[in-house]
Amino acid sequence: MTTKHEHDVLVIGSGAAGLCLALELSPHAKIAVISKANLMAGSTSQAQGGIAAVLDSTDSVDAHQVDTLTAGAGLCHDDAVHFTVSNSSESIQWLIDQGVPFTRDPGASNTENYHLTKEGGHSHRRVIHAADATGYAVSSTLIQKAKQAENLELFENRVAIDLITHRHTGNDQPECLGAYVFNIAEDRVELFQARHVILATGGASKVYLYTSNQDGASGDGIAMAWRAGCRVANMEFNQFHPTCLYHPQAKSFLITEALRGEGAKLILPNGERFMQRFDSRMELAPRDIVARAIDHEMKRLGIDCVYLDISHKSAEFILEHFPTAHERCLTFGIDITKQPIPVVPAAHYTCGGVIVDNKGRTDVPNLYAIGETSFTGLHGANRLASNSLLECIVYARSAAAEIRSQLTAQNASSLTLPAWDESQVTDSDEDVIIAHNWEELRRFMWDYVGIVRTNKRLQRAKHRVDMLLQEIDEFYSNYKVSNDLIELRNLAVVADLIIRSAQQRRESRGLHYTLDYPQTETTAIDTVLTPENTATSQAINPER
Ligand code: FAD
Ligand code: SIN
Repeated sequence: MTTKHEHDVLVIGSGAAGLCLALELSPHAKIAVISKANLMAGSTSQAQGGIAAVLDSTDSVDAHQVDTLTAGAGLCHDDAVHFTVSNSSESIQWLIDQGVPFTRDPGASNTENYHLTKEGGHSHRRVIHAADATGYAVSSTLIQKAKQAENLELFENRVAIDLITHRHTGNDQPECLGAYVFNIAEDRVELFQARHVILATGGASKVYLYTSNQDGASGDGIAMAWRAGCRVANMEFNQFHPTCLYHPQAKSFLITEALRGEGAKLILPNGERFMQRFDSRMELAPRDIVARAIDHEMKRLGIDCVYLDISHKSAEFILEHFPTAHERCLTFGIDITKQPIPVVPAAHYTCGGVIVDNKGRTDVPNLYAIGETSFTGLHGANRLASNSLLECIVYARSAAAEIRSQLTAQNASSLTLPAWDESQVTDSDEDVIIAHNWEELRRFMWDYVGIVRTNKRLQRAKHRVDMLLQEIDEFYSNYKVSNDLIELRNLAVVADLIIRSAQQRRESRGLHYTLDYPQTETTAIDTVLTPENTATSQAINPER
């Protein structure tokens, strides 16, 4: 028999977005937060540089907006930028109130003496941080709070497979009613019923072979929303972070952009600086420009990596500001106080996602998306560094306020939802197919849909993803689910959305660069994909 859980609110994801929303609502509603692994899983706990916000009297909302719009290469939505930036200082205050221990600097000019660092594309020092492990400080603080919160149940090792909507109940009115969730420890599917469902599942950078993200970044929320009838936008804009550690044993370790903010230089193997040939802002140009410059130099010289050098700064400064990077690099025999760090670009952030309004509402009533899984219009064609955690908090709080206004005294709907049906499937005896398809998908996405694209490469990728989609669909229909199968199924959907979006964009803009259309059109237009089974109520219009 299918185990059933009933709550007012189901939050899928325990990163900054999911936990912020859950904490805001827990005094008012019965909440479940699920995470596909432990509560620290996801990108939030890995974040290094910090959170961008207007905190200093020498800075302004206008300046932060201009920097965001410039990085976004003409495609940011003005209203989303204004909404986010004007709520930035309040959002940081919310984190401080929860107890996040941001780094202080007695000489700082802001009222509470927080140290503010700088990153690419920012005209001011405005990135508040906890040394170079900001995400760990945010995650551990919010998790601790969530464990103590009333009405809040936390479920680990639970993987949402699909959303339950009106289609499962035969109702005409589109709505989301819960989710089918795989319980990894017990190897069975459970039903979570809720009046409001929130996708806070993070990004999809695992679709690429080389990434700064953890294993679970398989775009589950985007794929589930798409299957439930939600539109997605701007999926072609996957951000490649310019500097990930290049070492055979270093799986996805990011070298924070704050190093460049504090003066680190990019150099070739012969010690020569090269960013001056690409942008007058040098190492602090927006990420798309720096990543493309590195890719260009690596291809031109046939080298495996370039180097990032901060060794001209004192060892004391480096150890105070970058203890995590220093310690991690030392484990690979690299002493960053004395020698340059080998770095390469890697897939880092999904700028596109599930279309939402400024309350986090998707096309399907009662279904919300927040954080990296959503498309709010903030990032345009290229996200400004450290605007992501900010977006998580701003939209989580705004979605929480909206849900709170919708809550009534009733409990979860008494509607009977269909149990998970396993009558037609058996145990898989060919798991090698899953492993093979994972590898194939991520490799061709890296080779054909990476930093530099062409029509031919995209066509090749489309051909392969079509075959994989069919094969995975067949496998999914015949065999019992597993975590790997759920992720592979979602990765294939997301890869298809990225390729289709990239094929639609006949220009180069921000993170989407194609040799066939190197020009940037004068009018900036979002790429919006609509599923065949789209929900009927489309309240949100992303076109400007
Ligand atoms: P995440 O924190 O990624 O959390 C996703 C959650 O969803 C996890 O709990 C996961 O288990 C769960 N989940 C996913 N799928 C399912 C499913 N099917 N079922 C159940 N649960 C599921 N941004 C900044 O602004 N500043 C930085 O300094 C910064 N540094 C970064 C450094 C690194 C190495 C990386 C990878 C990213 C960085 N970013 C930074 C980006 C930022 O960290 C992320 O965009 C942000 O943390 C996303 O938060 P989120 O809450 O949306 O998702
Ligand atoms: C970094 O620290 O370089 C990551 C910042 C970000 O992704 O916003």
